[in-house]
Amino acid sequence: MRVDVLTLFPEMFESPLGHSILKRAQQSGIVEIVLSNIRDFVTDSYKKVDDKPYGGGPGMVMMPEPVFDCFEHVEKLSAEKGRVILLTPQGQKFDHRKAVELSKEKRLIFISGRYEGFDERIREGLGAEQLSIGDYVLSGGELAAMVVIDSVVRLLGGALGDEDSSKDDSFSDGLLEYPQYTRPEVFRGMKVPDILLSGDHGKIAKWRRDKALERTKLWRPDLLKGDKS
Ligand code: ADE
Repeated sequence: MRVDVLTLFPEMFESPLGHSILKRAQQSGIVEIVLSNIRDFVTDSYKKVDDKPYGGGPGMVMMPEPVFDCFEHVEKLSAEKGRVILLTPQGQKFDHRKAVELSKEKRLIFISGRYEGFDERIREGLGAEQLSIGDYVLSGGELAAMVVIDSVVRLLGGALGDEDSSKDDSFSDGLLEYPQYTRPEVFRGMKVPDILLSGDHGKIAKWRRDKALERTKLWRPDLLKGDKS
């Protein structure tokens, strides 16, 4: 998969992309992540990327020209057309199902904005879909883009080692994950459930399923109702 990110702050991505699974996935060629700085595409000497909203109101709005120019440059870097995604609190709410859907694409192009928002012509003109990572407002789309990229890349074949497959993750079957334990068998008086030490794989699988259901009912009943809010 190829992932392009258009942003005013490419440095913000360095640490998240430079560690653990995202680092390994890039090194092994499972994903190529290319960061492009929107500010590099500003033609005026002040390097202005935002301006006051027409009609008045607080804050600044991302100007269309540098975003379009950056996008048109980035688009040509690969023959693959790609799906264009604008990170904004007004977008469709991102979830595991969306992560699976995006993980099947060959190319994703994310646009992270700052300030009060994007000039509306960016969404319209680039045919971008909008994604939100939750009902709260971040200072910019960068953290949101990182969240989406991380959750998509870990689903790509080979991104996780055999030892940490994503198939039992929370949400992969619509339920929260079952409880996990590792050594020691007893920690500060708290014991690992006997069944996990029994070696009976059938019983362990059933116990895990029951526990996953139990904690989903308790902590996230909305998941069982298919309620996505
Ligand atoms: N930009 C600002 N807030 C955001 C959110 N909740 N999701 C995605 N992008 C954002």
